[in-house]
Amino acid sequence: MLKRLFGAAAVKKEAEAYPIYNELDRTRLPRHTAIIMDGNGRWAQRQGLLRTAGHKAGVDTLKRVLKTAIALDLEVLTVYAFSTENWKRPHTEVDFIMKLFSEYLDKEVREMNDDGVQIHFIGRIWELSPLLQKKIHEAEDLMKDNTGVKFIVAVNYGGQDEMTRAVQNIAKRVKDGEIDVDSINNEVIESSLDTAGLPPVDFMIRTSGDLRLSNFLLWQAAYAEFWFTDVNWPDFSPQHFMEALCDFTKRKRRFGGLKNE
Ligand code: FPP
Repeated sequence: MLKRLFGAAAVKKEAEAYPIYNELDRTRLPRHTAIIMDGNGRWAQRQGLLRTAGHKAGVDTLKRVLKTAIALDLEVLTVYAFSTENWKRPHTEVDFIMKLFSEYLDKEVREMNDDGVQIHFIGRIWELSPLLQKKIHEAEDLMKDNTGVKFIVAVNYGGQDEMTRAVQNIAKRVKDGEIDVDSINNEVIESSLDTAGLPPVDFMIRTSGDLRLSNFLLWQAAYAEFWFTDVNWPDFSPQHFMEALCDFTKRKRRFGGLKNE
């Protein structure tokens, strides 16, 4: 407990060192922020390094961004770590990324737990290696009662796949007579998605210049505000993150209506 308090204070102090921290209207922060962490490969190749060096640097960026989320007391942070399409990459790169996830859990779980983080993985987790699955479930279990930032890691995730699975699940429940076709509504669909119980995505950040959603949180981002930056993920700093959040706090959201929120 003491460690948790000291840990949280240190994290906050670090974030406070950025002048922008004090400019942020904390009452208007997004409930759910999602990040497409793109550009690891390009970052590495531009420096004559192997793509894998970019992924390694990407892990350090993620640690800093999560610390910032903790300092700001964000409610939910979801990151796109590996898509259902990423298996098409050379197997050496895929193996390296899987090893990084495993090492990340080995090294970071204790500190995340001390920071009060509640980690959760979404996607086709059952298709990962048995060892990685074990580490994932142990981490989720260890942190399940924490009340800090909900940190959602999408691994082997695709929005279309998630929706297909949700439809299958609902169809089975209809077939088994558990629910009626006419009672299928947004709530029923939401509660069948991997993100069941989480608020919708308010703010979607994508690094490294591409302007697309890449099959990420298709349903959940229906009314998300977007922030695109040319900065590659390994160079994305707490300053960049807070600048993006600051911009979000100034936006007017209408959710299809006329009144500004
Ligand atoms: C995107 O860059 C990154 C990935 C697909 C890899 C995974 C992300 C990390 C290693 C960050 C850390 C995550 C965890 C959970 C520890 P890219 O390879 O698509 O870059 P490019 O578009 O420049 O090729």
